[in-house]
Amino acid sequence: MKKRILSGITPSASYLHIGNYFGAIKPHIDLQNEGNEVYYFIADLHALTTVQDKDVLRENIRGVARDYLSLGLDPQKSVFFRQSDVPAHSQLAVVLANYTSYGQMQRMHAFKDKLQKGFDKESVNMGLFNYPILMAADILAYKPDGVPVGEDQRQHVELARDIAEKFNKTYGKEVFPLPEPVISKKTGVIVGTDGKRKMSKSLGNIIGIFDDPKEIEKQIMGTFTDPKRIKPTDPGVVEGNPVFIYHELINEDKEEVADLKKRYIEGKVGDVEVKEKLISAHKKTFSSAREKRESLKNSPKEIDEILKEGAQKACEVAGKTLSEVYEIIGI
Ligand code: TRP
Repeated sequence: MKKRILSGITPSASYLHIGNYFGAIKPHIDLQNEGNEVYYFIADLHALTTVQDKDVLRENIRGVARDYLSLGLDPQKSVFFRQSDVPAHSQLAVVLANYTSYGQMQRMHAFKDKLQKGFDKESVNMGLFNYPILMAADILAYKPDGVPVGEDQRQHVELARDIAEKFNKTYGKEVFPLPEPVISKKTGVIVGTDGKRKMSKSLGNIIGIFDDPKEIEKQIMGTFTDPKRIKPTDPGVVEGNPVFIYHELINEDKEEVADLKKRYIEGKVGDVEVKEKLISAHKKTFSSAREKRESLKNSPKEIDEILKEGAQKACEVAGKTLSEVYEIIGI
């Protein structure tokens, strides 16, 4: 059944790796291609909690737009826009704050983590503290059925549900349907090339997507495999082995993957061959995205145009919800 789907992407970094792609971007694109009514936006106002440099923020926003468009976001099928271009998000957040308690906000993980890291409560940025209310407004403005997010955002979607319920109850009317978090289990967390921790730029355990091919080769060649296997003739373990996890994700030639696994278990293939095949698969899978990205780099106007058109459509939907809310609360 066709569903209304909404999600936001915080442009806090412009660097993309396969962990972000398979964990977030691909699930978003799949939902688009399954024929749902989708709204995806760049949460630029949310990025202010961490990015307070004008040029960096601008570049991050462009980078996110470019990545999504080159990896398959189709503006004919999705409404793609910038949060700040749709004022109803901020306006609704001001209203929703009145149906949210200080206690609820204090229980939010992002805030609690900050305190745990030793930050003084007195100096916590209010943008960070209020972040979940703005996110609830982002969501509720579109009355979506599903909100695809990472596990770390589950609590925020649940807060949006709680705020919606409180609002509905206060006015005795089902204004906001309760949105469901959509969390993809299969690709939730992707292990890094160290085989230990979640793939992340700051840990240096990534495989990029648009980096120089030489760099990608280096990243793949340096990937941790089965530590117990010394010679290619030793039987190896495939389960949980990062190189095979990446093959499953990247390599579209499923027969090749099955063959490599079989031979690995039997001790009939070396790590080098497995990695070389992964390098080729990476090239093949991302070649058209790479081309598209290069062409978008030379036409920033095209991106601005797409985002502007998306904002117009988003303003209609979110603006309608805001008018309805204003009417209900007596403003
Ligand atoms: N907070 C989300 C993240 O960091 C991004 C986001 C902002 C979002 N507003 C949203 C996600 C609304 C879903 C719905 O990933």
